[in-house]
Amino acid sequence: MQDVITFALAKGRLAEKSVDILEQCGIDCRRILEPSRKLVMSDVSGKFQFIFVKPSDVPIYVEHGVADVGVVGKDTLMEEDRDVYELIDLGFAKCRLCLAGYKDFDLSKPRNIIKVATKYVSIAKDYFDGKGQNAEIIPLHGSIELGPIVGLSDIILDIVESGKTLQENDLCVLEEIVNCSARLIINKVSLKTKADVIKPLVKSIDEIIKNKEN
Ligand code: PRP
Repeated sequence: MQDVITFALAKGRLAEKSVDILEQCGIDCRRILEPSRKLVMSDVSGKFQFIFVKPSDVPIYVEHGVADVGVVGKDTLMEEDRDVYELIDLGFAKCRLCLAGYKDFDLSKPRNIIKVATKYVSIAKDYFDGKGQNAEIIPLHGSIELGPIVGLSDIILDIVESGKTLQENDLCVLEEIVNCSARLIINKVSLKTKADVIKPLVKSIDEIIKNKEN
């Protein structure tokens, strides 16, 4: 009998796009998108299981092997820095990780310390350490753009998707750090022990993504 393959997904757009791709791979799992408070669901065959977790927790479940496969944003993957294989750039959920603030804020001006509000504490620390700039990182969990507006921080480090939130709050991108998109991640042990199912699945997903690009 085939091993059950467990996917860690974040409810919302990431799960919807992931299900689209899995359906194209022949996994009948559209029903998992029906409104429900259930945290564990299966595809129609029962060979694939889905657990619904917070986006930032997806790499944690996959690293611990309670999920074999996960779909997560590159921004989260960088922040969490977990021991998983990042196998495919799925090409959706595109955004940019940026420094943002008021347009007259001069990033290049020498200063003793810069105050940065962010959800991405670890990325921010690494970034400013790399620049040799002393930074006070102020961790927030949402509405990051408020930082400079209320004077909590000089700037923010956050994702920019459409740019609307910045625009409507009179802020702008000061510097782009990296482009992000959804990634397929795999538990390192599962890739060996469940290779007979995971490897063909990864190959199918890769082909679907490549066909979309062409
Ligand atoms: C994210 C991010 C920005 C916004 C960017 O916040 O933190 O605030 O989206 O998107 P945009 O460029 O399309 O405007 P999210 O919507 O996740 O809400 P949050 O403030 O609760 O984190």
